[in-house]
Amino acid sequence: MSSKEAALYEDCAWVDFDLMERFMADVFKAVGVPEEDAKACAEVLITADKRGIDSHGISRLKPIYYDRIRNGMQKPVTKFEIVKESPTTAVVDCHTGMGMVVSKKSMQLAIEKAKGYGMGMVAVRNSTHYGIAGYYAMMAADLGMIGISGTSARPAVAPTFGAENMLGTNPLSFGMPTDEDFPFVLDCATPIIQRGTVEIAARASKRVPKGLVVGSDGNSMTNPDEILEEMLKGNASLLPLGGIGEGTGGHKGYGYCTVVEILSAALSGAAFLKNITGVNVGHFFIAIDVSAFTVLEDFKKRAGDILRDLRAAKKMPNQERIYTAGEKEYLAWLERKDKGVPVNKSIQKEMLQIIKELNLKGYDFGF
Ligand SMILES: NC(=O)c1ccc[n+]([C@@H]2O[C@H](COP(=O)([O-])OP(=O)(O)OC[C@H]3O[C@@H](n4cnc5c(N)ncnc54)[C@H](O)[C@@H]3O)[C@@H](O)[C@H]2O)c1
Repeated sequence: MSSKEAALYEDCAWVDFDLMERFMADVFKAVGVPEEDAKACAEVLITADKRGIDSHGISRLKPIYYDRIRNGMQKPVTKFEIVKESPTTAVVDCHTGMGMVVSKKSMQLAIEKAKGYGMGMVAVRNSTHYGIAGYYAMMAADLGMIGISGTSARPAVAPTFGAENMLGTNPLSFGMPTDEDFPFVLDCATPIIQRGTVEIAARASKRVPKGLVVGSDGNSMTNPDEILEEMLKGNASLLPLGGIGEGTGGHKGYGYCTVVEILSAALSGAAFLKNITGVNVGHFFIAIDVSAFTVLEDFKKRAGDILRDLRAAKKMPNQERIYTAGEKEYLAWLERKDKGVPVNKSIQKEMLQIIKELNLKGYDFGF
């Protein structure tokens, strides 16, 4: 860990992964999520923490799931209804249940279809926040398949030449098996930064760099609290990958963001753009069985060779190494596995509040 990264964790307590996963599962159970589903939700969140994706693990428990279940926005019990199905495809209605539960089941269904027919795709509507897209892509990669997943989200991103947030942060993830110790996992939002990054900046009282977020006047915004507030009113927009205008390729990020919006909404009949409130989102899950194309071991070796060749490329001056997608998350796990989840003061406060409100026993985290 660099000294810059270490500074980010200065005020953190470190909580053992198993303890944190059990805590999150107990919180979900206490607000009405059935036991197996509660474990599934906790597993998706702890996977984010294990992979160093601090924006999408314990940090999301209270604001995105606990609060929304408690205020009736989303239902703790998930009805998984297949509304249309073919041997290779399905459309699922989640009925505003738990996004993580419907998504695990949907990727599992896509995988079953791929086992039978080489490929499977499932589109989901009326769902809620599903956490990290990479979790579902990795479900397939772990079984020797290529996994692809994306989701729509609340309006946050402006179209190129626009100054109004229309599109979600719409993450897109690809997981592919390799012969290395970790799969290739590209898992990121389609704007330059996602909402969670702004939330982290707000919690840490840090400015967002210029050129990532614009106000309705087209000027950069850097105050994270203001950005989060104005985004809800439609007056602040994240910029798509590539940034403002066409000069640095902003139109390409805008295009990919739109692809995720269409695949999430138009196949499943989910809400889109400004109609998304966070509890009526759409997702899609694709599984491709590598063995339908080639010998799995050959694929893994060739994919591994591509990644190794990339990492061996000539480096830019002052750069120590080149990474490939999924590598930093694997390194984060190696770094964290004996330490646990970093919990900053603001999340500590949220956890203590939940423990008090639910009267949960047996959780003394020492903060
Ligand atoms: N559910 C939702 O509504 C939602 C919305 C947005 C984002 N998310 C999730 O938030 C998480 C973080 O998204 P993000 O956009 O902040 O991701 P990010 O900008 O941190 O990028 C992460 C990706 O880039 C790869 N990467 C990082 N540095 C690299 C390098 N130097 N070389 C090669 N690859 C590199 C990582 O391996 C990873 O695949 C993701 O898990 C995403 O699914 C969820």
